[in-house]
Amino acid sequence: MKKQELLFYNEYKQFYCMARQSEVFHKFCEKVYGKDFSQDGFSDITQIEDILDIAQLNQGSTVLDIGCGNGKMLKFICEKSEACGYGFDYSNNAIESAQNMANGKDLVLHFQTGLIGEINYDKNMFDLITSIDSIYFAENMSKFVQQIYSWLKPNGIFICAYQEGDMMKKSKNENTTELALVLKKLEISYKVTDYTKRTYDLLRHKRKIIEEMKDEFIKNNMKIWYKCAIHQSCAESVSYEQFANNNSRYSYIIRKQDVLCV
Ligand SMILES: C[S@@+](CC[C@H](N)C(=O)[O-])C[C@H]1O[C@@H](n2cnc3c(N)ncnc32)[C@H](O)[C@@H]1O
Repeated sequence: MKKQELLFYNEYKQFYCMARQSEVFHKFCEKVYGKDFSQDGFSDITQIEDILDIAQLNQGSTVLDIGCGNGKMLKFICEKSEACGYGFDYSNNAIESAQNMANGKDLVLHFQTGLIGEINYDKNMFDLITSIDSIYFAENMSKFVQQIYSWLKPNGIFICAYQEGDMMKKSKNENTTELALVLKKLEISYKVTDYTKRTYDLLRHKRKIIEEMKDEFIKNNMKIWYKCAIHQSCAESVSYEQFANNNSRYSYIIRKQDVLCV
């Protein structure tokens, strides 16, 4: 398949080009999410700190971020934990930016361009694998989950931030999402944290910030990104109950059990 035919390929190309250059976008991310990870997803700093709390990484740990974008989130995780980081994304622009980030004395990061479903890593390689708003791009989610599982070390953790109401249709609850159904079929047990209310609050906050920064976006020829943020934060106008009828956000935590061999 040609890259241009992949879902949102050109949109992400433009997004990461803008993220690389724009001071306004940097400021926007800091204000909305508490930290600039060039988010196009829904993860603020508290959700990434939760990942660090759960994973308990240390020097010598290895981490893979699937759909890592320009790598800022992975860099943060590795700086905090001294783990060694690997990330891939289908966007050349994003990976170029990631590779240009300085590796510090105690920071080792490996980035590569790659497609979900095509890229491969060694079995039993990672202590932590994260997929933050990226698993939806797997053409065959079941196959991809089995692949991820094989990449984990025994006792390694896969954390998947999963949004419904955007790319995925809202299902009944955390046990009926496409990912949950795949995990059940594969007999992989999981725990879930429900971030729906926090996401509602985050989106309302995002709307407030984008309105405050409207003039800066317009002055810097970023009307398209202003409109995009307005569109993404339309939760502003509905009650939480209405929002939760059509949207949810979960974090799935999967620990690889020795007994399961996939
Ligand atoms: C919603 S963004 C999330 C980015 C980042 N993880 C975050 O939380 O801000 C989805 C990411 O997946 C990447 N992506 C989309 N489809 C992909 C595919 N088929 N293979 C690899 N990466 C893909 C995009 O370039 C983008 O960086």
